[in-house]
Amino acid sequence: MKKVIFSGVQSTGTLMIGNYIGAVKNWARMQDEYDCIYCVVDYHALTVRQEPAAFKENARSMFALLIAAGLDPDKNTLYFQSQVSAHAELAWILNCFTYAGELNRMTQYKEKSQRHADNINAGLYTYPVLMAADILLYQASLVPVGEDQKQHLELCRDVALRFNNIYGNVFTVPEAHIPQMGARIMSLQDTDKKMSKSETENPNNVIFLLDPPETIMKKCKRAVTDSDGLIKFDTANKPGISNLLTIYACLKDISTDECEKQFAGMGYGALKTAVGEAVCETVAPIKKKYDMLISDAAYLDEICIKNGNRAAKAAAETLDRVKAAVGINTF
Ligand code: TYM
Repeated sequence: MKKVIFSGVQSTGTLMIGNYIGAVKNWARMQDEYDCIYCVVDYHALTVRQEPAAFKENARSMFALLIAAGLDPDKNTLYFQSQVSAHAELAWILNCFTYAGELNRMTQYKEKSQRHADNINAGLYTYPVLMAADILLYQASLVPVGEDQKQHLELCRDVALRFNNIYGNVFTVPEAHIPQMGARIMSLQDTDKKMSKSETENPNNVIFLLDPPETIMKKCKRAVTDSDGLIKFDTANKPGISNLLTIYACLKDISTDECEKQFAGMGYGALKTAVGEAVCETVAPIKKKYDMLISDAAYLDEICIKNGNRAAKAAAETLDRVKAAVGINTF
């Protein structure tokens, strides 16, 4: 039997180059070797206030974009979280096995509470528990994510181990699979901040996969650098240049050392142009496929239903075991 992989992406906004490099590009590489389950986590996205019509459209768009970016819906179980109610049910049970002290330590909760000070809801607080439920429902061994999800994964493991210690081996204890390079793509204008698809302050901080080529080139050309003129990978002292080199290296599948050699003696302008071109080359076929998919509603519906049913079946098996373990009556 193949090992199970699970990962998810929130349907807030649209995919950007950080999601692609840190997560989706790697997901596409794993589809032959593993039993892969990838989920558009629309319930997670509700922790931030959403406008219903746009929210619905964003989720569909995200689904189409994942396929366009390389996830074959015949090889991967690709579905919406809201299609499988077991996610919410298991999350409730796991809430009872997670301590408030653990949730208080979550850095994403602290950051998001600051950003959405007018809406610090309970969903934002228990977000990591729903995430643990997502993963544990499918007995996933590996969870390919960017670096920002590491702490949530550690919590998921702690909760799984706690539950298993009480009830026996109900859950597979998953491991985070974080890429060595590109696990944290930084904002183009503010290199202290990670690039984020829900960026609202400055669109020049983030490159979206559906940005037109001229916008991509403009954003790359405006990326902050430094004044010493040397193309060198040094995240501590040259965060802007290192971020550009990382994007280039990940898209070209080369090391940052090779990158440095390739750009030796060249100026920052040349690097920015090369990065912009590499991004444009990567996103062009994705955009083409996306345009085709998004206009074919019947096809998208068909694969959502097929994959959602497949996911629901696998999830039900685990949920039944969990209910039996804790002593919930089933009729
Ligand atoms: P989300 O939607 O914020 O991001 C999706 C994936 O993209 C990665 N990522 C990045 N990688 C590199 N550089 C960046 N700047 C960058 N920004 C985002 C994320 O690490 C993620 O892998 N909580 C999750 C969604 C989720 C999930 C799950 C993931 C819900 N349930 C279960 C794994 C397993 C999130 O908000 O991802």
